Parts: sequence; C-alpha cells; structure tokens
Amino acid sequence: MTTYLDHAASSPPRPVARAALDAGLASANASAGHLAGQQARAAVETAREQVATALRCSPHDVVFTSGGTEADNLAIKGVAWAAQRRTGRIPHLITTAVEHPAVLEAVRWLVTRGEATATVVAPAPDGRVEVDAVLDAVCEDTVLASVMTANNELGAVNDVAAMARALREREVALHTDAVQAVGTLDVDVQGWGIAALAISAHKFGGPQGVGVAVLRRGLAVEPLSHGGGQDRGVRSGTFAAALDAACGAALEEAVRDREALRRRCRSLSDRLAAELISLDGVHRNGPTDPAHRLASIVHLSLDGVDPDRLALELDRAGLAASGGAACGSGASAASPVLQATGVSGTPLRLSLGWTSTAADVDRALDVLTTVIPRLRAGAGTRPGVAARP
Ligand SMILES: Cc1ncc(COP(=O)(O)O)c(C=O)c1O
Repeated sequence: MTTYLDHAASSPPRPVARAALDAGLASANASAGHLAGQQARAAVETAREQVATALRCSPHDVVFTSGGTEADNLAIKGVAWAAQRRTGRIPHLITTAVEHPAVLEAVRWLVTRGEATATVVAPAPDGRVEVDAVLDAVCEDTVLASVMTANNELGAVNDVAAMARALREREVALHTDAVQAVGTLDVDVQGWGIAALAISAHKFGGPQGVGVAVLRRGLAVEPLSHGGGQDRGVRSGTFAAALDAACGAALEEAVRDREALRRRCRSLSDRLAAELISLDGVHRNGPTDPAHRLASIVHLSLDGVDPDRLALELDRAGLAASGGAACGSGASAASPVLQATGVSGTPLRLSLGWTSTAADVDRALDVLTTVIPRLRAGAGTRPGVAARP
C-alpha cells in the first residue's frame, strides 16, 4: 500500500468530482441551442458560479482552461499582447525567480521574441517575495507583475494583497498563480484587489486537465488561440462541460472544508517536521513563521544522502513524496527555486492534502527514520538535485 504525501504534485480526485465528471461525460455541446446543449451549458454555468463564489469574484471573470499552465500563459501573454496593441510600446513585466515554469517560461518566451522586457525579482532566503522588491522593479512600461500566492516547493506564502494594493497605485496589474494556495488558504480575488489569477483543479481534488484563469473586468487580454469565440472570446473551443463541472464541484467542497483541512494539515505537518528535524543533518526549509508557509508542505534538506538512492528507497518502501517540484518534464535538474533561495543538500518535499491522515504521517516517519540513517551510513553524496516529473 502506498502512503501518498505528494498532494502538491497532484491530489487524488474527490468523490464529488468523480460524480460530476461521470454525469457530464455524455454532455452535448454546451453551445448548441437544443435542450441537451442547454443542459450542458447549465452545468458549465453552475461550475462558473461555484468557482466565482469560492474565489470571491464575479462569474464573468471566470475562464475555464486546460489547467494552471494555460491559465498562467493566458494572463501573461494575453495582457502583454493587449498592452502592446493598445500603446504600441514593448511592455515590461515583473516576475520572481521562484515562480512555476508556467509563469517563468511564458515571460522568457515573450522576452526572447522581443515582445516584452522583464525583471525577475529575487526572493528572500526563505522563499518569500518582498513587496518593496516588486515595487522597486516598476518602470514606465510595466503593465503586469506575476507573483505567486504560495510557492510549490517551499510553501512560502506571499502578501499578494499588499502587493496588489501598492501596484494599483502605480497602475500595474497583479497576476497571481494561486495553484498551490487555494486548497488551504482563503483566496479573495476582490478583497485582495488582484487583476488575474490561476488555479488548477488537480491540486484540490478535481481532475487533471482543467483549471481556471480569473481575468477581471477591465483587464484587456488577447486570446492565445482563435476559434469559435467561447468564454468571452478569450478562450475558444468547445466547453469541456464534464471537466468544468468536476472542477466546480471539487472547489466548492474544498473551500467548504478548507479550514478543517488547514488545521489538520498544520498539526500533521508540524509533527512530521518536528520528528524529522530531530534527526542529524535534516533541515526544514522555507519560512519559519507558520503564518508565512502553507500548512500542507514540509520541505527538507538532507545532508549526506544521495538523491537517486533516496528516491529508490522511498519507492521501495511505498512512500510517494517528491525530490522537489513535480510539475515539469521529468528531467532531473537543479531546481531554480532552491538555487534562488540558496537551499543545499538533498531536497525532500512531503505534501499533504484532503486524504491525509495521522496514519500516513506515522508510516512516513517509520520509513524516513529508517531510510535516512541507512543511506547516510552507505555511500557518498551528490549535490542536491530536484526531480521534476
Ligand atoms: C504553482 C503551480 N503553478 C502551475 C502549475 C501547473 O498546473 P497544471 O499542472 O494544471 O498545468 C503547477 C503544478 O503543476 C504549480 O504547482
């Protein structure tokens, strides 16, 4: 039996999401005028309402996408292109060195093609991004800053509400990748005053392959793809009624149960971290203040442990965890987040979610307190490498 502590990579689907997916699979085309089409459209619109209520924005702001990656790309490229069309000038973007590749690579792609200039802000050593560091990067042509709500490796939480407030005074819109945050943090689009946001259903118990871009009224966005003009003309393509319905149902339940989940994750992750850092050569990374880190993530560095052997041993013992971020191509490469924050040693991310129990933590502790000393007693070490499946 596997002990699953890799919810930051993907969380198992909730029964409500499975039921909505199942019910929606036989949907007609939600743009068709007949009764079956209207029923499919009603399912999409119900999901839109569920998402809007959960994120505290208008249903009009909700655009369904294929996931977090597309939602990030749509906001970043879409806003940059719209600004260039409006002003005739090359727009300037701000982002941070700890963003997910869905943000960093979108920005890099625009810059490489001469379609934007960009400033990449360095994080503090604990992985958080300071408001002043973002403000210092603002220049005359800045149109958008993209700063994640919470980091997927270290779990560091940023004060995006303060950033949005300060940026608004300088007429700069804030986009935030809230993919990791929405499961345990109260995300408030209107209250925070953010212009755009990305979430992904498979991080909160919905299916893989669906997400949401929140694009608020007044934010000009050029589409990434062109076609039938669905979803305000911003995201063409036949509505994925079943996926959208499952995303809405999962998010509604996740938000309803969020406070209880946050408390459970906090107590489980505190116990996990406390017992593991009592071992020699095990360090916890990320912010020390619990208010500044996700309750669901424990990120550790292990001294004197070979990363490949660790991965092998954990697999053998049936513990699913991550050597770093788990959102990339599968290539082993030094994690840019850990490089940017100066974290060394072999990384190990344990991440909890809606299925996590005290028994999972007991079992993970049994495995890790046996495997880590055993590996250390064995062969030498290679420098920290983050697996990115
Ligand atoms: C912070 C963050 N943003 C974006 C993504 C990409 O989301 P998706 O897998 O839905 O494309 C992920 C994880 O995969 C993530 O952790």
